Amino acid sequence: MHATPRWPDLPGIAFGGDYTPEQWPRDVWDEDVALMREAGVNLVSIGIFAWGLIEVREGEFDFTWLDEVIALLHANGIRVDLGTPTASPPAWFFANHPDARAVTRDGVPLGFGARGMASHSAPAYREASVRIATALAARYGDHPAVVLWHVHNEYGVPVGEDFSPHAVREWRRWLERRYGTLDALNAAWGTAFWGQHYGEWDHIGAPATAPSTINPAQLLDFARFTDDQLRACFIAERDAIRAHSDRPITTNFMANQHGGCDLWKWAAEVDVVSDDHYLWAADEDAEIGLAIAADLTRSVGRGAPWILMEHSTSAVNWQPRNIAKRAGEMARNSFSHLGRGADGILFFQWRASRSGAEKFHSAMIPHAGTSSRVFREVTALGGDLGRLGEVRGSRVVADVAILWDFESFWAQGLEWRPSEDLDHSERVRAYYERLWRDGITVDFALPSHDLSPYRLVIAPAQYLLSAADAANLTAYVASGGVLVTSFFSAVVDENDAVHPGGFGAPLEPALGVRVEEHLPLRHSQAGEIVLDGAALAVDVWQEDLVVTSAEVRAAYTAGPAAGGAAVTRNVHGDGVGWYVSTRPDAAGLAAILASVYRDAGLRPAGLPAGVEAITRRGADADYRVVINHSGERVSLEMSGTDLLAQADLEGVLTVEAGAVAVVRTSHPQQEQQ
Ligand code: GAL
Repeated sequence: MHATPRWPDLPGIAFGGDYTPEQWPRDVWDEDVALMREAGVNLVSIGIFAWGLIEVREGEFDFTWLDEVIALLHANGIRVDLGTPTASPPAWFFANHPDARAVTRDGVPLGFGARGMASHSAPAYREASVRIATALAARYGDHPAVVLWHVHNEYGVPVGEDFSPHAVREWRRWLERRYGTLDALNAAWGTAFWGQHYGEWDHIGAPATAPSTINPAQLLDFARFTDDQLRACFIAERDAIRAHSDRPITTNFMANQHGGCDLWKWAAEVDVVSDDHYLWAADEDAEIGLAIAADLTRSVGRGAPWILMEHSTSAVNWQPRNIAKRAGEMARNSFSHLGRGADGILFFQWRASRSGAEKFHSAMIPHAGTSSRVFREVTALGGDLGRLGEVRGSRVVADVAILWDFESFWAQGLEWRPSEDLDHSERVRAYYERLWRDGITVDFALPSHDLSPYRLVIAPAQYLLSAADAANLTAYVASGGVLVTSFFSAVVDENDAVHPGGFGAPLEPALGVRVEEHLPLRHSQAGEIVLDGAALAVDVWQEDLVVTSAEVRAAYTAGPAAGGAAVTRNVHGDGVGWYVSTRPDAAGLAAILASVYRDAGLRPAGLPAGVEAITRRGADADYRVVINHSGERVSLEMSGTDLLAQADLEGVLTVEAGAVAVVRTSHPQQEQQ
């Protein structure tokens, strides 16, 4: 069950960032709040890494400085997102509780001096984190400045998995709860293979370093366990806060890291979803990766407005090459998030740190100070967001869903798969990218969701698909939906066991094909298919398909499957199931999807190249958020009011190269009246 989303008590769109006054002398604080006001900042996150300065010794609290900071922010009308500092326990904690350190898979207990080294299964850590969360909530839970709670920081990073004795003990308990009996566990894990049968719960270890690849069902369960342990820590802190405060509670996700947290489950536990997003500098079309993360963030929150808790004004400091953003890029990034449902745009961090590991990370106030491009752009952004209060609460509507299932992602990523070229994220990106370029807005969904609102559902990488979820997808097609499934899908069930009947068997009714054999290609080996008379290049993967009821839309003309079916289309009930058994290049995928769109009644938006446009639907109006990533001025047919320029449009919106616009337009229904 999802908690009902609760938005913090704030005027308009939230704007601000992480604020670390503890790193600065007192006189800088006054300058900070004055500059925040100048920049239009209305929300800052504080206290996230300040445990040792609040609980100075175990059980001994000093709130003096925090009282003063919160009072200063309050006096200046800046709201507070108050962090619980539990992502980074202080030195005294590890000195007093050396057993509470996380242990690596090689058995090494992690050392102090970085952050996030605690074992999430250690009773001392659980107790201490609830104690500090309780102390903060008891003191500030009703403070008028505090409008939001920020529990911990990025669960699962830098450490999620833990192989400590505490973790092993909890893992065994978790398995007992999941399976009830060892017989059930042995069956689910297939322990008859390689003689792994267990006769005692206490004989089950965490999947630490072993001589060869470890039982994949065990690894998949360990990923589930790790995620559950992290979430239990969040829930314990959240409930401790709720006992003293009625303000909404969040924790910042990392949707673009696709890491160890199943965000569908996490989003159900927070009052408001928030996400941290950093561009992958090596990605030359990083705005597409950003859009994926933003759409995923909105989707896990089932469409409710969310907060971009962190992004960067310019370069980060932890990638191999930290590419600075150029003029306008920070605004474009911010508006892409806003267009995709974010009602808060925040940064890491307010003022660049002089010391420590992140001094080369950009900030709202860079080391160069306020006479800088970055600060000028920050201030301009604050002004622009200040004009968009009415957009808040409006929602993105999508006709297409792409399946994103964290468990399937984890499972596919395990070792000893048929080819190292199989890449879950890559396939999702490829399909998403085509839709992005066609200007078609996408939600993400689980295969268990009600998919009936969507004209088209794409499963680019659904390696793990339970029989029940396959039945849901089949029912979606039968009742009129269009489903596209890419290769290496519906291969295993929830225990990473191959489906009875073979690869893809549970989707056979919907797709009209079965996979007889996987035919991975050699590195750089090219294949070819022919679709509607046109030859299309494919690589990485082919399959021997057995066509049971589908129409063959493209056949292999080169490669190990030459002569066989490559792309199929199957009418099932009132809908259509497509199967794409190979990896086409971008042009090939475009050609396939053009036919799919016809089945689904979809049309590309016809946007100029490099232009992103997303619609947010409000109660009384639509908001078109337009981002021009190209180097050319563009014109789009559009009527309404340009909210940033504060001007009425005469049927055409012109957006300068690299610029953005937000236009209030009437609802399509209103236009028809
Ligand atoms: C985030 C983290 C921040 C800061 C930022 C920049 O992942 O939450 O605390 O480290 O990255 O590197």
